[in-house]
Amino acid sequence: MKVGFLQFQPMLKDVETNIDKISRLVEEAKPFDLIVIPELANSGYVFVEKDELAKVSEEIPTGYFVEKLNELAKQKNGYIVCGVCEKSENRYFNSSVLVGPEGFIAKYRKVHLFDREKLFFEPGDGPFKLYNIRGMNLGILICWDWIFPEATRSLALKGMDVLAHSTNLVLSFCQTAMITRSIENQIFTITSNRIGIETNGEHSLHFKGHSQVTTPDAKRLVQASTDKEELHIVEIDISEARNKWLSDRNHIFKDRRPEMYNTLMEKQEF
Ligand code: ACM
Repeated sequence: MKVGFLQFQPMLKDVETNIDKISRLVEEAKPFDLIVIPELANSGYVFVEKDELAKVSEEIPTGYFVEKLNELAKQKNGYIVCGVCEKSENRYFNSSVLVGPEGFIAKYRKVHLFDREKLFFEPGDGPFKLYNIRGMNLGILICWDWIFPEATRSLALKGMDVLAHSTNLVLSFCQTAMITRSIENQIFTITSNRIGIETNGEHSLHFKGHSQVTTPDAKRLVQASTDKEELHIVEIDISEARNKWLSDRNHIFKDRRPEMYNTLMEKQEF
């Protein structure tokens, strides 16, 4: 299975430039089964006012940007997971779409919002669901979802082989943590991060790149730079994600003790 990511710098509030750049870079890519593109790749990230989202967001799957992604997936005969600023009536979601040669397949709405995203987006309803892509069980999360191991675990317990993780990372912990997500669930993860400094009025963020693919045995098959646009495709063997035995007597899922984890299912007050 050939999987990878596009790391690039989206332009704030410029959907046309963003899809043109994505199309150009992906068109030039070697053949792939799956490519992951960063969070909010149509719109950029640093919003100051909610009104700004109206111009750059779109209904999924009928919007302009997703239509163009469909064309690209068809042209490349591969699957694409990409972050999209979604409009649904007068609500906005930080979403990802999965598209393929057959067209639009699914969307995922970010469950755990980060920082000022809470000012603009509704918390998403997921779902934590798998999609079978050429024999690979694919799960989708977005950026800050990474810090909740329950999110990755929910997908892994359903049989996820590969996690498609579109991000706009500004902290530097995630890329290390994804190695742990890979080990503890025996899965591959593809984190596609953006780069660049984006400024809007008084707000400015520096996105840290370092997109990567991690393996069940704790390796990075590739890691991009912190500041360059890069596209990488690597070969993975999904059978490595199907074996959940870590010793003769330790199966990471059979050995779980859910009866000890009640606290995880309770809503605590903090
Ligand atoms: C993030 O969730 N964009 C950090």
